[in-house]
Amino acid sequence: MAISFKVNHPITADQFIGLLESSTLGERRPIHDRDCMEGVVSNSNLIVSAWDNSVLVGIARSVTDFHYACYLSDLAVHGNYQRSGIGKRLQALTQEHLGPLCKLILIAAPAANSYYGEIGYTHNDRCWVLDPGATIGD
Ligand SMILES: CC(C)(COP(=O)(O)OP(=O)(O)OC[C@H]1O[C@@H](n2cnc3c(N)ncnc32)[C@H](O)[C@@H]1OP(=O)(O)O)[C@@H](O)C(=O)NCCC(=O)NCCS
Repeated sequence: MAISFKVNHPITADQFIGLLESSTLGERRPIHDRDCMEGVVSNSNLIVSAWDNSVLVGIARSVTDFHYACYLSDLAVHGNYQRSGIGKRLQALTQEHLGPLCKLILIAAPAANSYYGEIGYTHNDRCWVLDPGATIGD
C-alpha cells in the first residue's frame, strides 16, 4: 500500500465528509451542515492529507499561527487504513510545518482518548471550551 502525503492540497467538502464518515469521526461532526463543512475546509490554514492514489484516506486539519499554537481540529483516517501509521505520520508532518515553540492542541474524541498519550502528547486538565451560544458571564 503506497500512501502519499500532501500539505495544503485542495480537498473538496465532499471528500472531507466522505473521509469523516469512513473514519467514524463523522458521528461527532456536523457533516450535514454544508456551510459548516465547506467553511472548515476552506478556512483551515494547515491541512496534511494522505492519499491512496486519488482516494483521500487521512487528514490532519489544523488552524494555526505557525509560531505558538496549532489547534488540530480533525484527525481522521479511513477505517480500512487505520492502525498502519498514517495518523502518526499526519501529525509528524503537521509538526514539521510549525515553528520550534509551537504546540499542538486538540480535543480527543472519546474513542481516541488513550491514543494521544501513547504517541507523546501530555494531558492538560486546564483545557476549557466555551460552547457555541454560551454567554460569557460576569
Ligand atoms: C485515531 C486515529 C486518527 C489514529 O490514526 P491511525 O492511523 O489509526 O493510528 P496510527 O497507525 O498512527 O496508530 C499509532 C498507534 O496508536 C494506536 N492506536 C490507534 N488508534 C487508537 C485508538 N483509537 N485508541 C488507542 N490507541 C490507538 C495504534 O495501535 C498504534 O500503536 P502501535 O504503533 O503500537 O501499533 C484513527 O484511528 C481514526 O481516524 N479513528 C477514528 C476517528 C477518531 O477518533 N479520530 C480522532 C479524533 S480526536
